[in-house]
Amino acid sequence: MRLLAVESSCDDTAAAVLQDGRALSNVVSSQTDIHAAWGGVVPELASRNHALTIIPVIQKALLDADTTLEQLDAVCATHGPGLIGSLLVGLQAAKGIAYARGIPFLGVNHLEGHLAAIQLEQEVPHPYVGLVCSGGHTALYRVDGVGEIVLLGETLDDAAGEAFDKTGKLIGLAYPGGAAMDALAQSGNPTRFKLPRALWDKDNLDFSFSGVKTAARTLVQKHGALSEQDRRDYCASVRVAIVDALVRKSLAACRIHHVTHLVLAGGVAANGLLRSRMEEDARAVGITAHIPSRALCTDNAAMVGRAGWARLVRGETHALSLDADPSLPVG
Ligand code: KG4
Ligand code: ZN
Repeated sequence: MRLLAVESSCDDTAAAVLQDGRALSNVVSSQTDIHAAWGGVVPELASRNHALTIIPVIQKALLDADTTLEQLDAVCATHGPGLIGSLLVGLQAAKGIAYARGIPFLGVNHLEGHLAAIQLEQEVPHPYVGLVCSGGHTALYRVDGVGEIVLLGETLDDAAGEAFDKTGKLIGLAYPGGAAMDALAQSGNPTRFKLPRALWDKDNLDFSFSGVKTAARTLVQKHGALSEQDRRDYCASVRVAIVDALVRKSLAACRIHHVTHLVLAGGVAANGLLRSRMEEDARAVGITAHIPSRALCTDNAAMVGRAGWARLVRGETHALSLDADPSLPVG
């Protein structure tokens, strides 16, 4: 089955072509530069720019995969959760193609896409625990099978990516500051500044990052001017506080639910320390961590196609009346 997948839930316009669950192309047009000036994603700007780029992005995905519209067997698109104006652009474009071609259409949950991304690179047996950590989400799931997803815990306040971005902003890093903090942290001392770890009870699977954010703000205000080394130590200290929580709770979820495979997903999964710590700490307790390449961690359409394909081959489709749902639950 050759399918076209479309993703536009936030500020990336993305399209991919898949053949039997394998990506033939994966095109992402990022709006990061447009939103950086505003310090965060501006929904109205996001949807307007999706409208400008969606057709060229789809055309490039088809071209890269050497595929014509006539060769497509199905179309799928993210229909939630996300920003309503953003979701609608990709969803309507995908439905238009399915209608014009008379081929099946399927709406895909964005988080189910993140959890499926790893399957584009390696087969992971069910059940697995999936940690989705991005700018908008931080949650742990147990994935028992295709579409069989149980929420185990989630952030009670900020997402992990949001915590990186906000604490980065405090030292003048441009939005989104997660990757820049990660780079600065490489040569910083992670024990220099003490930052809190919330909900530390060993069986608690929820997250809270507002304490790290508040402590970081107080630290920056009290410290006064920061030298270059201070900045690096600050980034390393924030990074380890956030990563400690992500690793501890992911491993706790595996232990509590007797699961031996752990999957990382979402933009924060590009973090260097998170990737190495998750792998090492998991191995130490007999758990295998599966970590996608960085391009599959951030928002992309191949992951949406992979999740969609697994449902399409079981005969699942949606009517073209399917609407976007900004708060679509997973599972
Ligand atoms: O999944 P994603 O591309 O978009 C959504 O939020 O859905 O994730 C973006 C988030 C941003 O908060 C960004 O700062 C963070 O992922 N991020 C990182 C790194 N690369 C991206 N956070 C920490 N370390 C990184 N290397
Ligand atoms: Zn995402």
